[in-house]
Amino acid sequence: MDDQTKAPLTTKTLVAQTPGARERITGAITQPIHMSSTFLRDADNRYPAGYVYGRTDNASVQQAEDLIAKLEGAEEAFLFGSGMAAASSVLLALEKPTHIIASKVMYWGFRSWLREIGRYGHRVSFIETSDLDAVRAAVRPGETGLLWIETPSNPLWTITDIAAISEIAHAASAILCVDSTVATPVFTRPLALGADIVMHSATKYLNGHSDVVAGALATARDGQLWSRIRDLRGQLGNALGAFDAWLLMRGMRTLDIRVRSQARTAATLAERLVGHAAIAQVLYPGLAQHAGHDTALRQMSGGFGGMFSVRVKQGERAAIAVAAAVNLWKRATSFGGIESLIEHRASIEGDGSPCPGDLLRFSAGLEDVDELYLDLMQALAQTLAQTSASVS
Ligand SMILES: Cc1ncc(COP(=O)(O)O)c(C=O)c1O
Repeated sequence: MDDQTKAPLTTKTLVAQTPGARERITGAITQPIHMSSTFLRDADNRYPAGYVYGRTDNASVQQAEDLIAKLEGAEEAFLFGSGMAAASSVLLALEKPTHIIASKVMYWGFRSWLREIGRYGHRVSFIETSDLDAVRAAVRPGETGLLWIETPSNPLWTITDIAAISEIAHAASAILCVDSTVATPVFTRPLALGADIVMHSATKYLNGHSDVVAGALATARDGQLWSRIRDLRGQLGNALGAFDAWLLMRGMRTLDIRVRSQARTAATLAERLVGHAAIAQVLYPGLAQHAGHDTALRQMSGGFGGMFSVRVKQGERAAIAVAAAVNLWKRATSFGGIESLIEHRASIEGDGSPCPGDLLRFSAGLEDVDELYLDLMQALAQTLAQTSASVS
Protein backbone atom coordinates (compact mmCIF):
# COMPACT_ATOMS: atom_id res chain seq x y z
CA MET A 1 0.00 0.00 0.00
CA ASP A 2 1.22 3.51 -0.70
CA ASP A 3 1.92 5.51 2.40
CA GLN A 4 -1.30 7.49 2.10
CA THR A 5 -1.84 7.72 5.81
CA LYS A 6 -0.01 6.91 9.02
CA ALA A 7 -3.24 6.30 10.96
CA PRO A 8 -3.88 2.61 11.77
CA LEU A 9 -6.20 1.14 9.17
CA THR A 10 -9.13 -1.18 9.80
CA THR A 11 -8.76 -4.85 8.86
CA LYS A 12 -11.29 -4.22 6.10
CA THR A 13 -9.09 -1.62 4.41
CA LEU A 14 -5.82 -3.44 5.17
CA VAL A 15 -6.84 -6.66 3.46
CA ALA A 16 -8.51 -4.93 0.52
CA GLN A 17 -5.45 -2.78 -0.15
CA THR A 18 -2.96 -5.64 0.44
CA PRO A 19 0.02 -3.61 1.62
CA GLY A 20 2.91 -3.76 -0.80
CA ALA A 21 0.71 -5.18 -3.52
CA ARG A 22 1.83 -2.80 -6.26
CA GLU A 23 4.63 -4.46 -8.14
CA ARG A 24 7.47 -2.06 -8.92
CA ILE A 25 8.54 -3.04 -12.47
CA THR A 26 5.12 -3.10 -14.12
CA GLY A 27 2.89 -1.40 -11.57
CA ALA A 28 0.78 -4.58 -11.44
CA ILE A 29 -1.88 -4.44 -8.75
CA THR A 30 -1.38 -8.13 -8.02
CA GLN A 31 2.11 -9.34 -7.15
CA PRO A 32 3.72 -12.08 -9.23
CA ILE A 33 4.55 -15.37 -7.52
CA HIS A 34 8.25 -15.30 -6.69
CA MET A 35 9.44 -18.82 -7.41
CA SER A 36 13.22 -18.34 -7.56
CA SER A 37 15.14 -20.51 -5.11
CA THR A 38 18.36 -18.52 -5.51
CA PHE A 39 19.46 -14.94 -6.17
CA LEU A 40 22.35 -13.17 -7.94
CA ARG A 41 25.30 -11.64 -6.18
CA ASP A 42 26.53 -8.31 -7.56
CA ALA A 43 30.08 -7.51 -8.71
CA ASP A 44 30.99 -6.64 -5.11
CA ASN A 45 29.96 -10.15 -4.03
CA ARG A 46 26.94 -8.79 -2.17
CA TYR A 47 23.26 -9.56 -2.43
CA PRO A 48 21.87 -6.15 -3.37
CA ALA A 49 18.25 -6.89 -2.46
CA GLY A 50 19.07 -8.98 0.61
CA TYR A 51 17.64 -12.16 -0.92
CA VAL A 52 20.07 -15.07 -0.75
CA TYR A 53 18.34 -18.45 -0.80
CA GLY A 54 14.74 -19.58 -1.07
CA ARG A 55 14.57 -21.56 2.16
CA THR A 56 14.62 -18.31 4.09
CA ASP A 57 14.04 -15.56 1.53
CA ASN A 58 10.91 -15.31 -0.56
CA ALA A 59 9.09 -12.12 -1.48
CA SER A 60 5.68 -13.81 -1.86
CA VAL A 61 5.95 -15.29 1.60
CA GLN A 62 7.13 -11.98 3.04
CA GLN A 63 4.27 -10.10 1.45
CA ALA A 64 1.73 -12.36 3.18
CA GLU A 65 3.72 -12.19 6.43
CA ASP A 66 3.71 -8.38 6.31
CA LEU A 67 -0.06 -8.33 5.96
CA ILE A 68 -0.53 -10.75 8.89
CA ALA A 69 1.82 -8.62 11.02
CA LYS A 70 -0.24 -5.53 10.22
CA LEU A 71 -3.51 -7.33 10.93
CA GLU A 72 -2.25 -8.51 14.32
CA GLY A 73 -0.48 -5.25 15.22
CA ALA A 74 2.72 -7.34 15.43
CA GLU A 75 6.34 -6.41 15.05
CA GLU A 76 6.87 -9.35 12.73
CA ALA A 77 5.06 -12.45 11.45
CA PHE A 78 6.33 -15.73 10.01
CA LEU A 79 4.51 -18.21 7.83
CA PHE A 80 5.01 -21.95 8.14
CA GLY A 81 4.01 -25.01 6.14
CA SER A 82 1.08 -25.68 8.52
CA GLY A 83 -0.49 -24.50 11.76
CA MET A 84 1.18 -27.45 13.49
CA ALA A 85 4.59 -26.38 12.14
CA ALA A 86 3.95 -22.86 13.45
CA ALA A 87 2.76 -23.99 16.89
CA SER A 88 5.48 -26.60 17.40
CA SER A 89 8.15 -24.03 16.42
CA VAL A 90 7.42 -22.08 19.59
CA LEU A 91 7.97 -25.15 21.76
CA LEU A 92 11.06 -26.27 19.84
CA ALA A 93 12.58 -22.82 20.30
CA LEU A 94 12.33 -22.90 24.10
CA GLU A 95 15.85 -22.62 25.47
CA LYS A 96 15.68 -24.89 28.49
CA PRO A 97 13.35 -27.53 29.94
CA THR A 98 10.17 -25.63 30.70
CA HIS A 99 6.89 -26.18 32.45
CA ILE A 100 4.05 -25.34 30.07
CA ILE A 101 0.44 -24.56 30.96
CA ALA A 102 -1.93 -25.33 28.10
CA SER A 103 -5.70 -25.08 27.60
CA LYS A 104 -7.46 -28.35 28.40
CA VAL A 105 -9.79 -27.79 25.47
CA MET A 106 -7.80 -27.12 22.32
CA TYR A 107 -7.15 -28.39 18.81
CA TRP A 108 -6.70 -32.13 19.40
CA GLY A 109 -3.69 -32.53 17.07
CA PHE A 110 -1.62 -30.02 18.98
CA ARG A 111 -2.83 -31.38 22.32
CA SER A 112 -1.70 -34.89 21.27
CA TRP A 113 1.75 -33.59 20.35
CA LEU A 114 1.98 -31.61 23.60
CA ARG A 115 1.13 -34.73 25.59
CA GLU A 116 4.40 -36.19 24.36
CA ILE A 117 6.44 -33.03 24.94
CA GLY A 118 8.34 -34.79 27.72
CA ARG A 119 10.67 -36.21 25.08
CA TYR A 120 12.00 -32.65 24.60
CA GLY A 121 12.49 -32.23 28.34
CA HIS A 122 9.42 -30.04 28.89
CA ARG A 123 6.47 -30.73 31.16
CA VAL A 124 2.90 -29.77 30.43
CA SER A 125 -0.17 -29.20 32.61
CA PHE A 126 -3.51 -29.13 30.82
CA ILE A 127 -5.67 -26.66 32.70
CA GLU A 128 -9.16 -25.26 32.16
CA THR A 129 -7.76 -21.84 31.23
CA SER A 130 -11.18 -20.15 31.41
CA ASP A 131 -10.77 -20.70 35.18
CA LEU A 132 -8.23 -18.05 36.21
CA ASP A 133 -7.80 -19.45 39.72
CA ALA A 134 -6.96 -22.86 38.27
CA VAL A 135 -4.32 -21.24 36.06
CA ARG A 136 -2.84 -19.29 39.00
CA ALA A 137 -2.67 -22.49 41.04
CA ALA A 138 -0.96 -24.34 38.19
CA VAL A 139 1.88 -21.83 37.81
CA ARG A 140 5.16 -23.22 39.17
CA PRO A 141 7.36 -20.26 40.10
CA GLY A 142 10.72 -20.42 38.37
CA GLU A 143 9.60 -23.37 36.23
CA THR A 144 6.58 -22.22 34.20
CA GLY A 145 7.91 -20.54 31.07
CA LEU A 146 5.03 -20.73 28.61
CA LEU A 147 1.24 -20.43 28.76
CA TRP A 148 -0.51 -21.68 25.63
CA ILE A 149 -4.16 -20.84 25.24
CA GLU A 150 -6.69 -21.30 22.46
CA THR A 151 -9.73 -19.02 22.46
CA PRO A 152 -12.44 -19.66 21.41
CA SER A 153 -11.25 -23.23 21.85
CA ASN A 154 -12.05 -26.10 19.61
CA PRO A 155 -14.66 -27.71 19.72
CA LEU A 156 -16.47 -26.41 22.84
CA TRP A 157 -15.68 -22.75 22.06
CA THR A 158 -14.54 -22.11 25.61
CA ILE A 159 -13.39 -18.52 26.10
CA THR A 160 -10.17 -17.69 27.92
CA ASP A 161 -9.56 -14.15 29.17
CA ILE A 162 -6.42 -13.16 27.27
CA ALA A 163 -5.67 -9.99 29.28
CA ALA A 164 -6.03 -11.77 32.63
CA ILE A 165 -3.90 -14.73 31.53
CA SER A 166 -1.23 -12.41 30.18
CA GLU A 167 -0.99 -10.81 33.64
CA ILE A 168 -0.62 -14.23 35.26
CA ALA A 169 2.00 -15.25 32.68
CA HIS A 170 4.05 -12.08 32.97
CA ALA A 171 3.96 -12.11 36.77
CA ALA A 172 5.66 -15.51 36.47
CA SER A 173 8.08 -14.20 33.79
CA ALA A 174 6.44 -16.60 31.35
CA ILE A 175 5.41 -16.07 27.74
CA LEU A 176 1.80 -16.11 26.60
CA CYS A 177 1.03 -17.63 23.23
CA VAL A 178 -2.54 -17.48 21.88
CA ASP A 179 -3.96 -19.72 19.17
CA SER A 180 -6.37 -17.22 17.66
CA THR A 181 -7.33 -19.29 14.62
CA VAL A 182 -11.05 -19.15 15.34
CA ALA A 183 -11.21 -15.51 16.44
CA THR A 184 -9.13 -14.18 13.52
CA PRO A 185 -7.60 -10.70 13.70
CA VAL A 186 -10.96 -9.34 12.61
CA PHE A 187 -12.55 -10.12 16.00
CA THR A 188 -9.61 -10.31 18.43
CA ARG A 189 -6.12 -8.81 18.62
CA PRO A 190 -4.36 -10.93 21.28
CA LEU A 191 -1.13 -8.89 21.19
CA ALA A 192 -3.04 -5.73 22.11
CA LEU A 193 -4.46 -7.67 25.08
CA GLY A 194 -0.99 -8.56 26.37
CA ALA A 195 -0.11 -11.79 24.53
CA ASP A 196 3.48 -12.19 23.38
CA ILE A 197 2.88 -14.39 20.36
CA VAL A 198 -0.28 -15.08 18.37
CA MET A 199 -0.63 -18.22 16.31
CA HIS A 200 -2.97 -19.15 13.45
CA SER A 201 -3.73 -22.21 11.46
CA ALA A 202 -3.85 -20.07 8.30
CA THR A 203 -5.40 -23.13 6.68
CA LYS A 204 -8.65 -21.93 8.21
CA TYR A 205 -10.07 -18.38 8.06
CA LEU A 206 -6.96 -16.50 6.94
CA ASN A 207 -6.93 -18.43 3.68
CA GLY A 208 -10.61 -19.23 3.76
CA HIS A 209 -10.92 -21.34 0.62
CA SER A 210 -9.93 -24.84 1.81
CA ASP A 211 -7.07 -24.99 -0.65
CA VAL A 212 -3.96 -24.13 1.39
CA VAL A 213 -2.37 -25.67 4.48
CA ALA A 214 -0.40 -22.99 6.31
CA GLY A 215 0.42 -21.63 9.75
CA ALA A 216 1.41 -18.24 11.12
CA LEU A 217 3.11 -16.79 14.17
CA ALA A 218 3.13 -13.07 14.91
CA THR A 219 5.09 -11.49 17.72
CA ALA A 220 4.62 -8.43 19.89
CA ARG A 221 8.39 -7.91 19.96
CA ASP A 222 11.54 -9.35 18.48
CA GLY A 223 13.20 -10.96 21.51
CA GLN A 224 15.33 -14.02 22.23
CA LEU A 225 12.59 -16.60 21.72
CA TRP A 226 11.47 -15.00 18.47
CA SER A 227 14.97 -14.92 17.11
CA ARG A 228 15.35 -18.65 17.87
CA ILE A 229 12.04 -19.27 16.10
CA ARG A 230 13.39 -17.35 13.09
CA ASP A 231 16.69 -19.31 13.10
CA LEU A 232 14.96 -22.68 13.48
CA ARG A 233 12.55 -21.94 10.68
CA GLY A 234 15.43 -21.09 8.38
CA GLN A 235 17.58 -24.03 9.47
CA LEU A 236 14.84 -26.66 9.34
CA GLY A 237 13.12 -25.27 6.25
CA ASN A 238 9.67 -24.97 7.79
CA ALA A 239 8.59 -21.86 5.91
CA LEU A 240 5.54 -21.81 3.68
CA GLY A 241 6.13 -22.20 -0.07
CA ALA A 242 5.72 -19.32 -2.50
CA PHE A 243 2.65 -20.57 -4.33
CA ASP A 244 0.78 -21.31 -1.10
CA ALA A 245 1.74 -17.88 0.22
CA TRP A 246 0.39 -16.28 -2.93
CA LEU A 247 -2.87 -18.22 -2.61
CA LEU A 248 -3.07 -17.27 1.05
CA MET A 249 -2.56 -13.62 0.13
CA ARG A 250 -5.37 -13.91 -2.36
CA GLY A 251 -7.58 -15.50 0.28
CA MET A 252 -6.78 -12.86 2.88
CA ARG A 253 -7.99 -10.06 0.61
CA THR A 254 -11.54 -11.05 1.48
CA LEU A 255 -10.86 -12.02 5.10
CA ASP A 256 -12.87 -9.25 6.69
CA ILE A 257 -16.01 -9.61 4.62
CA ARG A 258 -15.92 -13.42 4.81
CA VAL A 259 -15.52 -13.84 8.53
CA ARG A 260 -18.07 -11.18 9.42
CA SER A 261 -20.60 -12.92 7.21
CA GLN A 262 -19.68 -16.36 8.59
CA ALA A 263 -20.01 -15.07 12.16
CA ARG A 264 -23.46 -13.61 11.40
CA THR A 265 -24.57 -16.95 9.97
CA ALA A 266 -23.17 -18.88 12.96
CA ALA A 267 -24.89 -16.51 15.39
CA THR A 268 -28.24 -16.79 13.59
CA LEU A 269 -28.10 -20.57 13.45
CA ALA A 270 -26.95 -20.92 17.05
CA GLU A 271 -29.84 -18.74 18.24
CA ARG A 272 -32.39 -20.65 16.14
CA LEU A 273 -31.15 -24.01 17.39
CA VAL A 274 -31.51 -23.18 21.07
CA GLY A 275 -34.51 -25.08 22.43
CA HIS A 276 -34.82 -27.48 19.46
CA ALA A 277 -36.37 -30.77 20.58
CA ALA A 278 -33.40 -32.84 19.36
CA ILE A 279 -30.71 -30.62 20.83
CA ALA A 280 -29.50 -30.70 24.42
CA GLN A 281 -27.12 -27.73 24.21
CA VAL A 282 -25.87 -25.17 21.72
CA LEU A 283 -22.27 -24.05 22.24
CA TYR A 284 -21.51 -20.60 20.82
CA PRO A 285 -19.77 -17.74 22.65
CA GLY A 286 -22.23 -15.26 21.16
CA LEU A 287 -25.10 -16.77 23.15
CA ALA A 288 -25.86 -15.01 26.44
CA GLN A 289 -26.07 -18.39 28.19
CA HIS A 290 -22.56 -19.44 27.07
CA ALA A 291 -20.22 -19.58 30.09
CA GLY A 292 -17.64 -17.37 28.35
CA HIS A 293 -20.07 -14.85 26.89
CA ASP A 294 -19.10 -11.90 29.12
CA THR A 295 -15.39 -12.39 28.51
CA ALA A 296 -16.07 -12.84 24.79
CA LEU A 297 -18.00 -9.56 24.77
CA ARG A 298 -14.94 -7.84 26.25
CA GLN A 299 -12.24 -9.32 24.06
CA MET A 300 -14.03 -10.07 20.79
CA SER A 301 -15.07 -7.04 18.88
CA GLY A 302 -17.57 -7.21 16.03
CA GLY A 303 -18.46 -10.91 16.21
CA PHE A 304 -17.96 -14.24 17.95
CA GLY A 305 -16.65 -16.27 15.04
CA GLY A 306 -18.10 -18.68 12.54
CA MET A 307 -17.87 -21.87 14.63
CA PHE A 308 -20.52 -23.44 16.86
CA SER A 309 -21.33 -26.90 18.18
CA VAL A 310 -24.46 -28.68 19.33
CA ARG A 311 -24.97 -31.66 21.61
CA VAL A 312 -27.57 -34.05 20.24
CA LYS A 313 -30.03 -35.26 22.88
CA GLN A 314 -30.21 -38.84 21.67
CA GLY A 315 -26.44 -39.28 21.90
CA GLU A 316 -23.54 -40.25 19.71
CA ARG A 317 -25.26 -42.48 17.15
CA ALA A 318 -27.97 -39.89 16.57
CA ALA A 319 -25.31 -37.17 16.14
CA ILE A 320 -23.52 -39.26 13.49
CA ALA A 321 -26.90 -39.86 11.80
CA VAL A 322 -27.62 -36.10 11.65
CA ALA A 323 -24.23 -35.47 10.02
CA ALA A 324 -25.10 -38.13 7.44
CA ALA A 325 -28.55 -36.69 6.71
CA VAL A 326 -27.60 -33.14 5.68
CA ASN A 327 -27.30 -32.21 2.03
CA LEU A 328 -25.79 -28.74 1.92
CA TRP A 329 -23.42 -29.01 4.87
CA LYS A 330 -20.30 -30.90 3.81
CA ARG A 331 -19.26 -33.74 6.10
CA ALA A 332 -15.56 -33.00 6.50
CA THR A 333 -12.97 -31.93 9.01
CA SER A 334 -11.23 -28.52 9.11
CA PHE A 335 -13.11 -25.22 9.07
CA GLY A 336 -13.08 -21.59 8.05
CA GLY A 337 -13.64 -22.12 4.32
CA ILE A 338 -16.44 -20.62 2.28
CA GLU A 339 -18.40 -23.89 2.29
CA SER A 340 -20.23 -24.91 5.46
CA LEU A 341 -18.92 -28.04 7.19
CA ILE A 342 -20.40 -30.42 9.74
CA GLU A 343 -18.34 -32.87 11.77
CA HIS A 344 -18.88 -35.49 14.43
CA ARG A 345 -15.85 -34.37 16.36
CA ALA A 346 -15.29 -37.30 18.74
CA SER A 347 -14.75 -39.56 15.69
CA ILE A 348 -11.53 -37.71 14.90
CA GLU A 349 -10.23 -36.60 18.29
CA GLY A 350 -9.45 -39.97 19.83
CA ASP A 351 -7.82 -40.69 23.17
CA GLY A 352 -8.00 -38.21 26.04
CA SER A 353 -10.34 -35.85 24.20
CA PRO A 354 -12.67 -33.71 26.31
CA CYS A 355 -15.10 -33.70 23.35
CA PRO A 356 -18.41 -35.44 24.20
CA GLY A 357 -19.59 -38.19 21.83
CA ASP A 358 -22.89 -36.42 21.15
CA LEU A 359 -21.22 -33.27 19.81
CA LEU A 360 -21.53 -32.00 16.26
CA ARG A 361 -19.24 -29.19 15.16
CA PHE A 362 -20.34 -26.68 12.54
CA SER A 363 -18.27 -24.29 10.44
CA ALA A 364 -20.58 -21.69 8.91
CA GLY A 365 -19.68 -20.85 5.33
CA LEU A 366 -21.02 -18.24 2.96
CA GLU A 367 -24.19 -19.99 1.81
CA ASP A 368 -27.66 -18.60 2.42
CA VAL A 369 -28.40 -18.87 6.13
CA ASP A 370 -32.02 -19.99 5.66
CA GLU A 371 -31.01 -22.76 3.27
CA LEU A 372 -28.39 -23.97 5.75
CA TYR A 373 -30.97 -23.86 8.53
CA LEU A 374 -33.63 -25.78 6.57
CA ASP A 375 -31.08 -28.43 5.61
CA LEU A 376 -30.21 -28.92 9.25
CA MET A 377 -33.86 -28.95 10.28
CA GLN A 378 -34.71 -31.76 7.87
CA ALA A 379 -31.68 -33.76 9.07
CA LEU A 380 -32.69 -33.31 12.72
CA ALA A 381 -36.32 -34.18 11.91
CA GLN A 382 -35.24 -37.38 10.11
CA THR A 383 -33.12 -38.41 13.08
CA LEU A 384 -35.86 -37.62 15.58
CA ALA A 385 -38.36 -39.66 13.53
CA GLN A 386 -35.99 -42.62 13.24
CA THR A 387 -35.18 -42.57 16.93
CA SER A 388 -38.83 -42.44 18.01
CA ALA A 389 -39.69 -45.20 15.48
CA SER A 390 -36.97 -47.45 16.92
CA VAL A 391 -38.18 -46.71 20.47
CA SER A 392 -41.88 -47.47 19.71
C1 LIG B 1 -7.39 -24.14 16.39
C2 LIG B 1 -6.39 -24.87 15.55
N1 LIG B 1 -5.09 -24.64 15.74
C3 LIG B 1 -4.16 -25.29 15.02
C4 LIG B 1 -4.51 -26.21 14.05
C5 LIG B 1 -3.45 -26.92 13.26
O1 LIG B 1 -3.34 -26.31 12.00
P1 LIG B 1 -2.94 -27.08 10.65
O2 LIG B 1 -3.97 -28.10 10.37
O3 LIG B 1 -2.88 -25.96 9.65
O4 LIG B 1 -1.59 -27.69 10.89
C6 LIG B 1 -5.85 -26.46 13.79
C7 LIG B 1 -6.24 -27.44 12.76
O5 LIG B 1 -7.37 -27.85 12.66
C8 LIG B 1 -6.81 -25.79 14.57
O6 LIG B 1 -8.12 -26.03 14.42
